[in-house]
Amino acid sequence: MTTNTKTPSLFQPADLGPLHLPNRLVMAPMTRTRAGADGVPQPIMATYYAQRAGAGLIIAEAATPNRVGQTYADIPAIYDARHVAGWRTVTEAVGAAGGRMFLQLQHGGRIGHPENSGLHPVAPSPIALPDTVHTASGHREAVVPRALTAEEIRQTVADFAAAARNAVDAGFAGVEVHGANGYLLHQFLAQGSNRRTDEYGGSVAGRIRFVVEVVRAVAAEIGAERVGLRVSPGFGGQGMAEGDTAEIYRALVAELAGDGLAYLHVVFADPEDTVFQEIRKSWPGVLIANPVLGWGQPLPEDGGRAAAERLLAAGADLISFGRGFLANPDLVERLRTGAVLNPVRDGLMYTGGAEGYIDYPTLAG
Ligand SMILES: Cc1cc2nc3c(=O)[nH]c(=O)nc-3n(C[C@H](O)[C@H](O)[C@H](O)COP(=O)(O)O)c2cc1C
Repeated sequence: MTTNTKTPSLFQPADLGPLHLPNRLVMAPMTRTRAGADGVPQPIMATYYAQRAGAGLIIAEAATPNRVGQTYADIPAIYDARHVAGWRTVTEAVGAAGGRMFLQLQHGGRIGHPENSGLHPVAPSPIALPDTVHTASGHREAVVPRALTAEEIRQTVADFAAAARNAVDAGFAGVEVHGANGYLLHQFLAQGSNRRTDEYGGSVAGRIRFVVEVVRAVAAEIGAERVGLRVSPGFGGQGMAEGDTAEIYRALVAELAGDGLAYLHVVFADPEDTVFQEIRKSWPGVLIANPVLGWGQPLPEDGGRAAAERLLAAGADLISFGRGFLANPDLVERLRTGAVLNPVRDGLMYTGGAEGYIDYPTLAG
């Protein structure tokens, strides 16, 4: 791989759908379980996101588009008027601080628990997550999900579209459809979790159908230029076994390439990976890449800047960071000046409350 002399810098502006971004750094979506039990965003979330308004774009944490899609306790939702009102305080605070936001829409599928949502989880096929699920009373064995009927699939697609409308009403510039990391959309894509024999299973064309229908319904509702899709080719966590990774993403990208979406967002993107390279060649729009920084380890000393620059040179348009933004409200400034980063306090990611959430210092104090 050679470095393209036209490679943009992380600190150059970029256009994204209806937005003009002042830099190419995106805050990746991160579940922080600080909403109330009813999924209503709390004022502390407005403080947290406004502190991080220096990001070129913030993609707010996974929000559930319906009740059965709720993964864990205390994650936010976006399916009724209280959720819209709660999120509006967040988008207003971020806007007042000069920032821009999308909201991630996530249906958990088999990653969920009756204790969290009050409902039995649903999925492409009745195959349990081979793991435990975090609930308010601790880690519980995952239950065998119920397979969605064709009618329920249509309703779920409609729920995503309604949630996207709610997100725009709440002041978000757009939404990111979560097709990554083992949640419902990814469960449809993967052979290991999708054993359906109807038109939503079997061949690659069948397994990508639900994702394509969700993305198109959301785009029809709020405009394709306001819709991104997150994918995680080859991801093997959360019990995922895709089987034919290269074929899945080749087909998905070919199907959506002409739709005029805001972006495609690739998780754990590796510039040496042939699937990543093929996606870049085939995807005509904005590509956001989330570099591999080493999961469960401290962030690299340069905050991921070298990894980000390698991905820009490989054709990514924007770079997303998760933990860097979590622990450094002024991450853009720190990366620009080469300042030392605050270390991530891992034990406080999902604990609720202000500690480890809104108390990370900026360079200014
Ligand atoms: C606390 C935490 C919560 C996360 N929640 C989500 C989420 O809601 N949706 C999602 O797509 N990814 C989620 N992720 C993954 C991040 O978006 C990102 O892909 C990952 O942290 C790797 O980027 P990093 O090395 O810059 O942290 C989460 C990560 C962390 C650390």
